[in-house]
Amino acid sequence: MEIHAYEKLWLGAGLLLIVGFIGTVTYGAVGAGVEMIGDDNQAVTPDALGDHPQFGDPGVYASDSGGYDVYVVARQFAFQPGTTDAIEVPANSSVTFHVTSADVIHGFEVVGTNANTMAIPGEVATLTVEVDEPREYGLLCNEYCGAAHHAMEGTLRVVPESEFNGTQGGA
Ligand code: CUA
Repeated sequence: MEIHAYEKLWLGAGLLLIVGFIGTVTYGAVGAGVEMIGDDNQAVTPDALGDHPQFGDPGVYASDSGGYDVYVVARQFAFQPGTTDAIEVPANSSVTFHVTSADVIHGFEVVGTNANTMAIPGEVATLTVEVDEPREYGLLCNEYCGAAHHAMEGTLRVVPESEFNGTQGGA
């Protein structure tokens, strides 16, 4: 069978595209930086969070690397801290959130960033956000968690370094 040169070219290009698409999907699923929460075995006991060194007093902690660790407990229907009291971090810092749930599965999204995770009882989700200019971000629960799910929200406030009030955990 005679196949025209252009036909061969287009077949080749089509095959390349298919291989490329499968490659990007595979990379997106298992590639670097993509992992399920809990992979590092940071298990906690949901009904004993009060005994946990950080989740027992959730909030903003200074980290050894010069950034900040923010421990957040999600529960029906609030983030602690975040909902009643905004989470405050200084501008131009690296902020690592450690999020868990005290009851059911919640979501934790920093609106307008790519920080978005599930908060699962017994598991700790960890994600880092680099904040620069002072501004406010909304926090949202995006997993249906009960009757007031739609009202479960909070605030992340990035304040000028000079207005930052310090951290928790003995600081
Ligand atoms: Cu918490 Cu929806």
